[in-house]
Amino acid sequence: MSVNKEIKKVTTNTLQRLKEGGQKISMLTAYDFSFAHIIDNAGIDVILVGDSASNVMAGHETTLPITLDQMIYHASSVIRGTSRCLVVVDLPFGSYQSNSEIALASAIRIMKETGAHAIKLEGGEEETECIERIVNAGIPVMGHLGLTPQSIYKFGTYTVRAKEEVEANKLKKDAALLQQAGCFAVVLEKIPALLAKEVTESLNIPTIGIGAGMYCDGQVLVMHDMLGITTEFQPRFLRTYLNIREQVTGAVKQYIADVKNNSFPNESEQY
Ligand code: KIV
Repeated sequence: MSVNKEIKKVTTNTLQRLKEGGQKISMLTAYDFSFAHIIDNAGIDVILVGDSASNVMAGHETTLPITLDQMIYHASSVIRGTSRCLVVVDLPFGSYQSNSEIALASAIRIMKETGAHAIKLEGGEEETECIERIVNAGIPVMGHLGLTPQSIYKFGTYTVRAKEEVEANKLKKDAALLQQAGCFAVVLEKIPALLAKEVTESLNIPTIGIGAGMYCDGQVLVMHDMLGITTEFQPRFLRTYLNIREQVTGAVKQYIADVKNNSFPNESEQY
């Protein structure tokens, strides 16, 4: 059973109730109308319009280049395709780190211009002032700790974070601060499963893991990775549910052959 029919419209309160009831939260990324429509109809709880659009939609190496205007374009397309799930939109790199006034202005643009329900931003203690200001304006905020891709040039690598005690302790402290600042949930990316378990048990708000093991309150994957659209990205945590790339390649090759050998269109496919 994938779709919980009792939930007509997923809100941040729904996620809290799912955690409290010991039920897992499902989240996937989407960036356009058509896929958002499919994913929403399939019964996903949350769609994240992730800044991973920078990688999988625009072909950039990192999430850093995507702009607020581009995120707004993706998010408004996703919103038009959804009716049930909660839609969360990433604040892109550079749209919130300078100060809380800029952060609030960016969050307001996303809410006003896309119709999304919440925003997500990366970082711990250093972002709590931004989070409080955005939450105080009535905008729900999802946090993001562990491997935070907007800081890739600081980390230097995409390997597992917080394996050492100092970083693990900072992450635990940051998680508590994000909750205190008013976040309704927090993404934990690429950290040891037992650390994610400890954080999940210590927080009242839900944790959503990606490469953070089985104890999180929910899971998120990048849609292009789990559908097998991207093939070069094969981390241990990724389960690939489909090989769309192979299927699309087969369909396109067949179409090319049909056109070339004059078998498309046939008589019933013309006027
Ligand atoms: O941008 C994104 O897709 C994300 C997920 C990896 C959580 O932030």
